[in-house]
Amino acid sequence: MRYGPNLLEEILRRTDIVQLVGRRVKLTRKGQAFWGCCPFHGEKTASFKVENARRTFHCFGCGKGGDAFKWLIETEGLSFPEAVERLAGEAGVELPKWSPEDEAREEKKKSLYDVIALAAEFFEAQLYEPGGRAAREYLKGRVLDEATAKKFHLGFASPAGNALIAHLTAKNVTMDDMIAAGLARGADENHGPRDFFFNRLMFPITDGRGRVVAFGGRGLSADAKPKYINTGETEFFSKGRQLYNFHLARPAAIKSGTIIVCEGYMDVIALSKAGFEASVAPLGTALTEDQLQLLWKVAPEPILAFDGDAAGRKAGLRAAHLALPHLKPGHSLRFAFIPGDDDPDSLIRTLGPGAMQKVLDAAEPLTDVLWKSETEGKDLSTPERRAGLEHTLADLIGQITDGKIADYYRRDFEARVFDAFKRRPKRAAWEPGRGRGNRGGRGESGRNPRFPPQPEGVSEAVKASLIARQGGPLKVKEIEVCRLLLEEPELAAKYSETVAALPFLDLSLDRLRAELLNVAASGSRLEKQGLENHLIRCGMADIVARLKAPPREVGEETASGEDADARFLRAASQLRDMAERDPERKRALERFKQEPSEESWLEVRRLLEDRSGE
Ligand code: GTP
Ligand code: MN
Repeated sequence: MRYGPNLLEEILRRTDIVQLVGRRVKLTRKGQAFWGCCPFHGEKTASFKVENARRTFHCFGCGKGGDAFKWLIETEGLSFPEAVERLAGEAGVELPKWSPEDEAREEKKKSLYDVIALAAEFFEAQLYEPGGRAAREYLKGRVLDEATAKKFHLGFASPAGNALIAHLTAKNVTMDDMIAAGLARGADENHGPRDFFFNRLMFPITDGRGRVVAFGGRGLSADAKPKYINTGETEFFSKGRQLYNFHLARPAAIKSGTIIVCEGYMDVIALSKAGFEASVAPLGTALTEDQLQLLWKVAPEPILAFDGDAAGRKAGLRAAHLALPHLKPGHSLRFAFIPGDDDPDSLIRTLGPGAMQKVLDAAEPLTDVLWKSETEGKDLSTPERRAGLEHTLADLIGQITDGKIADYYRRDFEARVFDAFKRRPKRAAWEPGRGRGNRGGRGESGRNPRFPPQPEGVSEAVKASLIARQGGPLKVKEIEVCRLLLEEPELAAKYSETVAALPFLDLSLDRLRAELLNVAASGSRLEKQGLENHLIRCGMADIVARLKAPPREVGEETASGEDADARFLRAASQLRDMAERDPERKRALERFKQEPSEESWLEVRRLLEDRSGE
């Protein structure tokens, strides 16, 4: 480690943590300690305590706590060394230089930072000189006001030859340093040394601490080639590891809990001006893994806002695939696609911040984006193509390294496959043990969660009316069984054979049953709330709400003194009996299995309903 414990101790000792925290949280003294409302979770009564004696903060509500370094890491998104440097600076503690070589390199770097800072000042000043008029006109044309230009320190590299070299030379900067800083190109056989940027609108790129490390430059004319040029890789600028505007976006992201990633400089500036201050952009390349990690440090689900065109979709998908191996609980991405040919900049300019907000509100989760990209506009009418789809989905899941998340994705995709194709299943898939989605050894005989079959060719309207239909003792029993299964998640695993063999006829209850079996078969043990959340995520919010909400149906047994197992087994056996009792209905069911059609299905239903008075 770079800093010894004594030094860190010294910094903490000299830091007034009450005063530090007090900059963000209103604190009131009570005895030795100070109390306030916790900034990490919403609360109305103060359960957040700060003590100078212990030099700590702690929330009794959410459990967050730590020392002054931790405070800066949590509230400002600083890295540990950054927090140390910040507090050392404030406390007047001198940080040691580590080795003479390091020191020399740091000194050198420091001088290069100074060189770049000089260049940034020069470019910015040029924008407001008479020579910067064309650039100012350009900004006006893009509805970018002076205050915003100043906030982002926009500048102008003049078309006059080597203006920056002349300026820096006059300040005793060597040509080597200018080249090392990415500001000048060295001499070659045809030319002397030249300015790297000329006749461009300049966007300074800062590092995490707000120091300018590089520039992006936009040509002023519509046909400038290339439209943008960026500083090449230097010792302190790596375009794959930094994000435009991260320095300003970071505190805003931590405060709002979200961060927007768009494609370009102009988009970031327009977003920020419209009030979306937590906005960043990659630096002219596709989003990288390093950038993803940077984003996740400040927000659990960054929103990627891409143009709605084919290129934007493609970039979104690329980022989606990139993210898969890095997903962790609480780390994901969301995708907002700007409609039409717009980008955030033009959308905000033409339709205003409200339109942008709508686009962000409609951001899609990662699963949706992956699913759509594999299914939308694709012909999946043959078994082979569907099998191909399942293959691709399994490959995607294979990319996810976190076991729990992989599990959720598998179930989510299975539910989607089921949803998408249940009206056109293969005959073979209807036999127990030969169902679809039997990857990973599930669906052995008698455990096929897709059984009984879904009717082929039943129109949505008919199906809806079947689902909507209330009453009938059989349905009441189905509901009762499902309620018990939700009440006691262990049951589905314990009695999976029984659950799988139950003759459910209500389609939505049957789907719920199928998913419960999926969960059970996957071996994950979810407690009640977790299970409900999972079902809701699988699109079963309605049925879950209905099962949870009283009133109970007439004929349904209410909780007796029996334990859950006994109640479940009795309800299951009653349901089975009710379904089996009637030979005519049994025959109809057989017929339906043999020859699935809307007609044979309706026959089953008719028989069921005829007896609904039983
Ligand atoms: P405007 O046309 O000024 O609104 O820019 P934009 O941000 O809408 O441009 P676009 O969507 O074409 O590009 C997005 C980002 O990609 C830009 O902000 C640049 O960082 C980068 N970029 C675009 N064109 C070029 C180029 O020709 N060269 C390089 N290196 N980067 C580019
Ligand atoms: Mn644009």
